[in-house]
Amino acid sequence: MIRNLRSLPNWCAAKGTTLPDIRLTYVSTLRPVVAETDIRDLVAKAAEFNSAHGITGVLAVDGNRVCQILEGPETVVSALFKSIQHDQRHHTVVMLERRGIEKSGFESWGMVRQKMIDIVQHALTS
Ligand SMILES: Cc1cc2nc3c(=O)[nH]c(=O)nc-3n(C[C@H](O)[C@H](O)[C@H](O)COP(=O)(O)O)c2cc1C
Repeated sequence: MIRNLRSLPNWCAAKGTTLPDIRLTYVSTLRPVVAETDIRDLVAKAAEFNSAHGITGVLAVDGNRVCQILEGPETVVSALFKSIQHDQRHHTVVMLERRGIEKSGFESWGMVRQKMIDIVQHALTS
C-alpha cells in the first residue's frame, strides 16, 4: 500500500498542485511481544519513510502506551495511518485528532521519539 504512495509527489508536481497538510494524532497500545529494540528499529524505518514522503511528526512510547502525531500531505498521511492501523505490533488504535494545518510544527524531523508529556503539550498548545 505504501508502495502506491511513491508516485504521489511526482503526480502533484506534474499537475502543479500542492496537497493540503493535515495533522493526525492517535493513541494505541503495544502488544507485549514488542521489545525496546523493535521500537528503535520501527522509529528508524519510520523516519526514513516519513522524510522521503514529506511527513513529519513525533512518537512517544511510555510502557505499552503509544501516542503519535503525523503531519504532512493529507493523502500520504491518511494512507500511512491506514497501514499503521493494521500493524499487528499494536492494537486499540484510536484517532484523537485529524485537522488541516498551515505549517508543520516539526519541520526538521522525519520521525523522532519524544517524551509523552512533550507530545501532549504540543497537541494542546499548537
Ligand atoms: C506505533 C507505530 C507507529 C508507526 N509509525 C510509522 C511511521 O511514522 N512511518 C512509517 O513509515 N511507518 C510507521 N509504522 C510502521 C507501519 O505500520 C508499517 O509497518 C509501514 O508503513 C510498512 O508498511 P507496509 O509493510 O504495508 O509497506 C508504525 C508502526 C507502529 C506500530
